[in-house]
Amino acid sequence: MSNAKQRVLITGGAGYVGSVLVPLLVNKGYPVTVLDTFWFWDSPQQYQETIGLSNAALLRLVQGDLRNKEDIRQALTEVESVIHLACISNDPSSDLDAGFTHAVNYTGSLNVIDLAKEKGVKRFIYASSSSVYGIKSEPNVTEDLPLEPLTQYSKLKVEVEHYLLHRLDDDFKGVIIRPSTVCGYSPRQRLDVVVNLLTNLALNKGKIKVMGGNQLRPNIHMKDMVRLYELLLEVPIDKINKKIYNAGYENRTVLELALLVKEVMGKVTMEVEETTDLRSYHVCSDKIRQEIGFASEHTVKGAIMELKEAFEQGKIKNSDDENNFNVKRMKTLLERRET
Ligand SMILES: NC(=O)c1ccc[n+]([C@@H]2O[C@H](COP(=O)([O-])OP(=O)(O)OC[C@H]3O[C@@H](n4cnc5c(N)ncnc54)[C@H](O)[C@@H]3O)[C@@H](O)[C@H]2O)c1
Repeated sequence: MSNAKQRVLITGGAGYVGSVLVPLLVNKGYPVTVLDTFWFWDSPQQYQETIGLSNAALLRLVQGDLRNKEDIRQALTEVESVIHLACISNDPSSDLDAGFTHAVNYTGSLNVIDLAKEKGVKRFIYASSSSVYGIKSEPNVTEDLPLEPLTQYSKLKVEVEHYLLHRLDDDFKGVIIRPSTVCGYSPRQRLDVVVNLLTNLALNKGKIKVMGGNQLRPNIHMKDMVRLYELLLEVPIDKINKKIYNAGYENRTVLELALLVKEVMGKVTMEVEETTDLRSYHVCSDKIRQEIGFASEHTVKGAIMELKEAFEQGKIKNSDDENNFNVKRMKTLLERRET
């Protein structure tokens, strides 16, 4: 019997997480298909040349859109598992154009779920978000607490979760992950997520501005995030079918994160300002550890050190490049109507 790895479709595989996950899987022998609009790259070729593949023959790139069912059908050719990452992936960019965000994050996700089911996909992994909980007073936010999403982005994550659970059955199985904010280096760098944002400010402006400071911002290191997706491809599907898991590690306040950045960077000025954004959550990730043995191994401090190194080695070329900031890039694309 052959134990060859089966093809995985990664929607949004050219994004911040995808650009680390895709080479990890390809270099371990997974045939991978990426479906992406490549909004954060000059071209699919530039993406492929940058991410660092040892065996490019295993990778298929489909430049396409979740809103187009034909693109999804094409991307699903010979696919056994789907990791669905593609979306307008933070609050401010989701707020730019509500209709557009709904068409991508909700209708587009339903398209992927429906067509994956129709095509006989065996394992569907959905990237939701820990922001679905809203603000909680409970000391530990566990998966069974009621969801109180506060933003368009997180409300649509909840709706897609519900839809997926309702579509799963004995033939079409899947799992939902609610990751904390990811931190660390990626060839498609995001500098708008909290740890990366603070590190960039410290390194390139010599000054960190902390908004509020007491809000808890749980984080997960990029290397743990992608290790988890790999594990979810390998765990017996019946063990995780219809399950929902938080995936976080260090629950620190924004001020603590800023102090950690200052510790790594050395001489940095810090300013604290008031904010109306009081979103705060302490995510509990015990369930995923108890049920499938996943525990984070990489620290926020490690992510800061790796980012510093990436800047110093010129791997992040221009920290002001709009491709590093989702809302700036999406605003440009929407203004030019290139979406
Ligand atoms: N980064 C985080 O901190 C974090 C935390 C929790 C959850 N998540 C979730 O993980 C997933 C990946 O996040 P990320 O940080 O890599 O996001 P990202 O914005 O870097 O990547 C999203 C990718 O999806 C693509 N895309 C967007 N709309 C598309 C469409 N209509 N058709 C095809 N491709 C499209 C974009 O071009 C981009 O490459 C998202 O679902 C996000 O909500 C991320």
